[in-house]
This record gives sequence, structure tokens and C-alpha cells, in this order.
Amino acid sequence: MDLLHYIPKKPFAQKHLLTLQDYSSDEILQVLSCALKLKKELKEGIPHPILAGKSLAMIFTKSSTRTRVSFEVGIHQLGGQGLFLSGNDIQLGRGEPLPDTARVLSRFVDGIMIRTFKQSDVEALAQYGSIPVINGLTDEFHPCQVLADLMTIYEHKGILEGLKMTFVGDGFNMAHSLMIGGSKVGMDVVVACPKDYMPQERVVRWAQENAAAFGRTVTVTQDVKAAMEDADVVLTDVFASMGQEEESAKRLRDFEGYQVNEELFSLAKPDAIFLHCLPAHRGEEVTSGVIDGPRSVIFDEAENRLHAQKAVMALLMKG
Ligand code: CP
Ligand code: NVA
Repeated sequence: MDLLHYIPKKPFAQKHLLTLQDYSSDEILQVLSCALKLKKELKEGIPHPILAGKSLAMIFTKSSTRTRVSFEVGIHQLGGQGLFLSGNDIQLGRGEPLPDTARVLSRFVDGIMIRTFKQSDVEALAQYGSIPVINGLTDEFHPCQVLADLMTIYEHKGILEGLKMTFVGDGFNMAHSLMIGGSKVGMDVVVACPKDYMPQERVVRWAQENAAAFGRTVTVTQDVKAAMEDADVVLTDVFASMGQEEESAKRLRDFEGYQVNEELFSLAKPDAIFLHCLPAHRGEEVTSGVIDGPRSVIFDEAENRLHAQKAVMALLMKG
């Protein structure tokens, strides 16, 4: 598959990026293709001021390194400007209603990126505002991360369809978005997690329906060894996500046996690659030997946040 020269089946018709479940397979491939082109141009020193004069409001009610920096640098590289809005500093944090915030920001800027807890808040912004809204992570989904993950997998494997992608860990935002993103591009997806940390049933159903269109499967299991066997791509995430810090000790106990270490990783294919959205807790969900090992592609993955999100902004905000 030559994604750089991907020919769209239909014009890109999305207004927002709330979850990848809203996107067709064709639209996801269009984003990835655009991301590869923008990356190539950037490396060749070719400017691409696609969003000259446009502004992106970036609302954060949770911490961030990658998302904040990659969106802010990305909009700048596209000729526009980003405004970092900490949830504590804007009136939203003092109780100004989300619908009002959405309508006010729509009068000033050309797009909103938001990282917050509730997916329904991201959806409310999209509903009440009149500009594109991009989900920069909620408790349920992290679509920008998974676009970067798919791009990274494509760069290292040359294909997406038919690969086996295994996620080990909490059935939370990363597991959800990986199941959706992977199934939409024709991968076999396996999520291995303890029984009290299963992904939402509705998301599993969506992903299984997506996969069926390719004759592929999405499986949730507690058998971490079987999940790892023959995997082309292995991913994990922290056991305690943002907002769950007080459960850290309990989670460390509950996730015993779910650490991606050298022994577990050796069950995957010999050329399997390892990804982690970061930040990582070495010694907990993954050992240093794996995450800092020769088959880890975590920094390519982090870099690709920039390129993937530039593609999302370009496609949504070009207008
Ligand atoms: N992976 C990711 O979203 O990183 P940040 O929390 O640093 O933005
Ligand atoms: N699951 C993690 C992802 C961080 C990028 C969290 O929500 O904290």
C-alpha cells in the first residue's frame, strides 16, 4: 500500500474529530496520507502555510507535554497560531457554561482542541460551537494519538491491513481508540486486560463491526500470552491514567502479570515493534529493556503526533 499517494474514494466530509468511530476507513487513510505528505515537506524544507491567519484555541483541563507542544508547533508550521487555555484560568473553570464557551470561542478562533475528562463535554463544544472541535484526549478516547500510532506502524511495516495489533493494559481511552482505529484499517486487534478493567462493551461492538467489514477480528481477553503470540505490533499504557492517581497502588496489584517485559515481548513476532503513547512508568506497565530496546519506536510515535495533527487541522480548518 502506498499511503503517500493514496487516492481518496470520497471527498473528506468530517467537521470535527471527536472519535475515530465517526470516520470512514477512507477518511482515516486520507488523514494518514496527508500527514505523510506534510512530514515529507517539512523534512525537505518546503513551507505549507495552509492555515495562514487562522487560530486554534487549545483548552486543557488535564496535563500534557506531547499534545500541547505538537498542536502549538503544528498550527504555527501551518501558518496559524495556537492559544493555550488552561482550564483553571479561563471562565469555564469558574462555571461558565460549555455552550456559552463554545459560542464565544467560535466568534474569535477557527478551531478548538480540547483535552478533558468527559467525552460529552467535547461533544457539547461541537454541538454548540460553529467551528471544528478536535478531541485531544478524554477518559474515553484519544483519536489523535491513534492516528500518530497508525502512521508510525505504517512507516515501520509498510502496511496496516492484516497486521495483528496487541494492546496490554487498561481498557480505557487508549484501548478504546486503538480498537477503533485498528479495526477501521483492517487490523486484527487484541486487547488483554484484567477482568475489572475491560473496555466498554459498546466500543468493543463498534470495533468488531468495523473489523468484520475486512474479515478481521477484535478480541478482548485475560490471556496475555495468547494475546502476544504472533503480534506484529505491541502497545501498552500506564495502569493509572490521569485522574486515577489515588488508585495507583491498587492498580499495580490488579495489573500483575500485565507488564510488557522481555519474556512476554519474546512471544510476539521477532520483528514486532513496541509503541507507547507516553508518558511511561518504566518498571510498571513496561520494562526498560522493552521500551528502550531496539524494537521500540516510541519517539517516532511521539514525533508523528505533530504530523498527524497537522493533517487533522489542515483537513478540518482549511475551510
Ligand atoms: N501521549 C500524550 O497524549 O501525551 P501528553 O499527555 O504529554 O500530551
Ligand atoms: N491513558 C493515559 C493516556 C495519556 C496520554 C491517560 O489518560 O492518562
